Amino acid sequence: MHPCRDLHLIVSAALLFFSTSVLLSAVPAARAQQETDHEEEFSYSLDAENGPAHWGEIKEEWSACGNGEMQSPIDLASQRVSLVRRLGHLNHSYAPANASIVNRGHDIMVRFEGDAGSVSIDGTAYHLRQLHWHAPTEHSVNGRRYDMELHMVHESAHNKAAVIGVFYEIGAHDAFLHKLEPYLEMIAKQPEREEKVGVVDARGARGRASVYYRYVGSLTTPPCTQGVIWTIVKRVRTVSRHQLELLREAVHDEMEKNARPRQEVNSRDITMFWPIQQNKH
Ligand SMILES: *[C@@H]1O[C@H](CO)[C@@H](O)[C@H](O)[C@H]1NC(C)=O
Ligand SMILES: *[C@@H]1O[C@H](CO)[C@@H](O)[C@H](O)[C@H]1NC(C)=O
Repeated sequence: MHPCRDLHLIVSAALLFFSTSVLLSAVPAARAQQETDHEEEFSYSLDAENGPAHWGEIKEEWSACGNGEMQSPIDLASQRVSLVRRLGHLNHSYAPANASIVNRGHDIMVRFEGDAGSVSIDGTAYHLRQLHWHAPTEHSVNGRRYDMELHMVHESAHNKAAVIGVFYEIGAHDAFLHKLEPYLEMIAKQPEREEKVGVVDARGARGRASVYYRYVGSLTTPPCTQGVIWTIVKRVRTVSRHQLELLREAVHDEMEKNARPRQEVNSRDITMFWPIQQNKH
């Protein structure tokens, strides 16, 4: 065969392939694929081929996303929640540690390099490894979703995960995120995968609220691993619209949200810790 004709065939095949891919995938997803290799794997878009309803079919290791009975997030409906005082105050020993900000393609994560401290649950220490944000919230309270949810991801020495979730609604700016704004702006302008941010103090992220929900669920992104101890702080904090937009822009996924739809509660218990008010005398 003549070399020119060969080349012609290759070019038309490439063009055909290209136009088919454009037809098959939504335009934002196609754009995102060029930037990182993460987006291709799963999407938050409900009607996408790799959307939340299909996560469990994408990879064998992700099957829990489709057939798990203890998946997260869930709706924290009052009639299912029982008050349990013996859960106790959430005790943590967070400390300032060096960290990096990472664009994971579907969210922005702060990953601690040093020892950022731990939280104690049932006598086990869960070390803080990373935190990231979803918008709007993934969990809801009596069907209501707020504007943003922070996830503080902890791990025990036996690799068991415990995640603390904090809700935000639009209002005054969040002081913890404020310190990260210059880095978010850098990533938003130019998609970088990672920036060192120096010392981050997780004490500023969680706040001092003491009432929380507790249930056992899963990671809310593939592989949707189950057995995660969830703690959701009841008090809703505030984040400015600018901060929320900055977080979304930094991801460069062209999506408006990165929240997994709610999952079935099934037979799980949802409990809540509510401290007894101490009388002074
Ligand atoms: C937190 O510490 C207090 C005081 O030491 C203790 O009574 C409580 O049980 C601890 N909470 C948890 C969840 O371990
Ligand atoms: C953070 O990293 C710097 C530079 O490596 C180091 O000097 C500093 O001690 C670290 N801070 C903490 C809290 O680990």
